[in-house]
Amino acid sequence: MFELPEDIQEIRDLARDFARNEILPGAAERDREHAFPADLVRQLGEMGFMGMFVPEEYGGAGLSTLAYTVALEEISYADASVGVVMSVNNSLVCWPIMAFGTEAQKRKYLVPLARGEKLGCYALTEPNAGSDAGAQRTRVTVADDGSYVLNGTKMWITNAPQADIAVTYANLDPAQRHRAVCAFIVERDYEGFEVGKVEDKLGIRSSGTAELIYTNLRVPKENLLHEERKGFKVAMATLDGGRIGIAAQALGIAQRAFDLAVAYAKERQQFGKPIAANQAIQWMLADMATRLEAARHLTWRAAWLKDQGRPVGKEASMAKLYASETAGFCTDRALQIHGGYGYSREYEVERLYRDARITRLYEGTSEIQRLVIAKHVLG
Ligand code: CAA
Repeated sequence: MFELPEDIQEIRDLARDFARNEILPGAAERDREHAFPADLVRQLGEMGFMGMFVPEEYGGAGLSTLAYTVALEEISYADASVGVVMSVNNSLVCWPIMAFGTEAQKRKYLVPLARGEKLGCYALTEPNAGSDAGAQRTRVTVADDGSYVLNGTKMWITNAPQADIAVTYANLDPAQRHRAVCAFIVERDYEGFEVGKVEDKLGIRSSGTAELIYTNLRVPKENLLHEERKGFKVAMATLDGGRIGIAAQALGIAQRAFDLAVAYAKERQQFGKPIAANQAIQWMLADMATRLEAARHLTWRAAWLKDQGRPVGKEASMAKLYASETAGFCTDRALQIHGGYGYSREYEVERLYRDARITRLYEGTSEIQRLVIAKHVLG
């Protein structure tokens, strides 16, 4: 596939118009103010962008993973904070409920999530379970009536301050590590649900990231997602798709940095000519353009494989690894091309440089992506 199908080009154009006209103008101010883009998220819901690959009968847009990937790049081009809110709701919340949920769970939770009427978060990470996701210590016990009782603390949870629903992982027996992990659909209104410390972050500052504290939180038995002790597989299969989303987010940031660098290099005059006339600048732009193309091909191919129902773990990690490293490379070079101006908050490239950094950390660090790829390569 070397050209996007026409229907996906139309989705890209729709996303591009909305991103550049509605999202981009307020991005710098939201970053400064740490302001959650509630209104934009509501509009994305109305456009079908909060449940893009969810079938229409469950409130979604009924599109492909590829269409979602292309749209997410466009949204992140304008503001990576809006991009991650969209990415988490689609990939990490709608997807596992769509893939593993019962019919009743889909009717009750997937429909409002996919319509964007409710927002979701994915509560896996804990203070001592970051890269080692199998080390889940949040405890779950089974009550006499068959309901579940959760106790523990999650951290670094994207969307936690605003989310209505948290797909949450907890362990029946931490000594058994991932083999005793269960997944649950938890509502914010349940007694014992508390949003803890909200993080003050380097980048993606208008998205919310916080701790979640569960104290004797009772979850009805019908909110178990998939089967008891199968939660780790839910978590890992979910991240296979989520990593394609983060690759798309990284691509959006990198493309914006590249476009700004090209424009600035043509406009900025030094030594009596535009700086773009210098080979030093041209080579930076050439490297950026080449890496962008390569990252996009990896990302689109991973999305396409997922749409074919084929295994995608290795390809998703490759796309996420390469696209996030490309976002780091492109924002660094774009800042360099801007010189001292690039270091100022007045220039957008400064925000892009900060926003890009997270893509090498969340949904698995670059080191974890290499570990996953190496496991596949070595068999
Ligand atoms: N799909 C299904 N099952 C999988 C799987 C996958 N992709 N990967 C592993 N599994 C299964 C294995 O088959 C194995 O099953 P059995 O016990 O039946 O054999 C089990 O899971 C354990 O597998 P491993 O032995 O490979 O597990 P591990 O403990 O070595 O960890 C890991 C593997 C890849 C390092 C994993 O811990 C990992 O992905 N860590 C990174 C965590 C991460 O990405 N966190 C992101 C948090 S969410 C986030 O960041 C969201 C946000 O803010 C935007």
